[in-house]
Amino acid sequence: MTVFVTGGAGFIGSNFVYHQLGKYPQERVVCIDKLTYAGNMRTLQKASEHDNFRFVKADICDRNAIFELFKEEKPDIVVNFAAESHVDRSIEEPEVFLTTNILGTQVLMDACREYGIKRFHQVSTDEVYGDLPLNRPDLMFTEKTPIHTSSPYSASKAAADLLVQAYIRTFKLPATISRCSNNYGPFHFPEKLIPLMITKALADKALPVYGKGVNVRDWLYVEDHCKAIDMIIRDGKEGEVYNIGGHNEMANIDIVKLICTELGKPESLITYVEDRKGHDLRYAIDPTKIHNELGWLPETRFADGIKSTIQWYLDNRAWWEEILSGEYRSIEL
Ligand code: NAD
Ligand code: DAU
Repeated sequence: MTVFVTGGAGFIGSNFVYHQLGKYPQERVVCIDKLTYAGNMRTLQKASEHDNFRFVKADICDRNAIFELFKEEKPDIVVNFAAESHVDRSIEEPEVFLTTNILGTQVLMDACREYGIKRFHQVSTDEVYGDLPLNRPDLMFTEKTPIHTSSPYSASKAAADLLVQAYIRTFKLPATISRCSNNYGPFHFPEKLIPLMITKALADKALPVYGKGVNVRDWLYVEDHCKAIDMIIRDGKEGEVYNIGGHNEMANIDIVKLICTELGKPESLITYVEDRKGHDLRYAIDPTKIHNELGWLPETRFADGIKSTIQWYLDNRAWWEEILSGEYRSIEL
C-alpha cells in the first residue's frame, strides 16, 4: 500500500505522516510538498529516517511533475492536505489561494483518474459553511448545511469541494471529503492564534487579539483529526462528506487568557487590535455522522491538549525559533 500525503511538511499533514508511519509501518508514505513558507523540512526530520518514507518537493499545480510521480509510485490512496491555509494572507493576496487550493486539487484528481487509485481524500474545512451567530448555541454545522463562504480562503476551499463532488459524479472518482474545525497541537505554524500567542507570550510581546476577542472557534487536537481521516480513507463511504469536530467551542479571548495563565504571563500583554475583515463569528461542528457511521470520537480533552501543546512549544523552542529567524527555509535533510 502506498499513501500520498500532499502538504505533509505543514501542520496537519506532518502530524498525519507520523500517525501513518506509527500505525502502519509496513505501508509506504510519499509526502509531496512545495515547501512554501508554511512547509518545514525540520518537521519531517524523524520521518525521513523511516525506510518507508519518501519526500518529494513538488507543486501540486505542476501537472507534469505530479503525473510523473503517480506513474512512478502508483499510489493507492491520496490525501490532499496541500493548501494555502491562512485566512489573513488570503485577504492580502487571494490569487495563490485560488491556484493551489482549486487548480492544484484538479491536477491531483486528474492524475488519480489517469492512473487509478482506491481513494482520493480532500481535507476541507468547516469554514466552507460560513459562520453561525453568537447567540444561537443550538445551531451547528451539519454536512447538509449550505456552503456559504466569507474569505477568499474559504471560497477557494469551497470551490475545491464542489470540484471534488463534480469529479465524483461525472467521472465516478472514488473520493471523500472531510470538513474539520480548528486544529491545535505540535508543529502548528506560529502565525495561527494558539502558537502565535504562545511564542509571543514567551517573548513578553504584545498579544494581538482581533476586535473584542468574542469570536468563537471549535478546537480539536490534531491527533484526533488524523485518526478521523485514517478512518475515512479506509472505511468511509465513497462520495461522502464527513464533518469532524469535538464540541469544544471557545472564545478567542478565553484561549489567550488561558495561555497567559499557563505560562505565568500577565494579561496586560493582551492588546486589542483592528478586527479581521469579514471575520467569521462562530464555528461549531456537529460530528454525529462520523460518530454513527465510523465510530469516531475525539480522545483528547481540550484541558489536556492545550497543556501538552504549550509544553511542546516549551520543549521545542529550536523548532519555532528557526521559523522566526527564517533559517527553516534553507534546511535540507
Ligand atoms: P499549513 O499551512 O500548515 O500547511 C500547508 C502545507 O501545504 C505546507 O507544507 C505547504 O508547503 C504545502 N503547500 C502549499 N501550497 C502547495 C502546493 N501548491 N503544492 C504542494 N504543497 C503545497 O496548513 P494546515 O493547517 O496543516 O492545513 C492542512 C489542510 O487542512 C489544508 O487543506 C486546510 O485547508 C485544512 N484544514 C486546516 C485546519 C486548521 O485548523 N489548520 C482545519 C481544518 C482544515
Ligand atoms: O476552522 C478551520 C480553519 O481554522 C482552517 O480552515 C484554517 O486553515 C485555519 O487557519 C483556521 O482558521 P482561523 O481563521 O479560525 O484560524 P486563526 O488561527 O487564523 O484564527 C483563529 C481566531 O483567532 C480567529 O477568530 C482570528 C483570531 N486571531 C487570529 C490571529 C492570527 C486573533 O484574534 N489574533 C491573531 O493574531
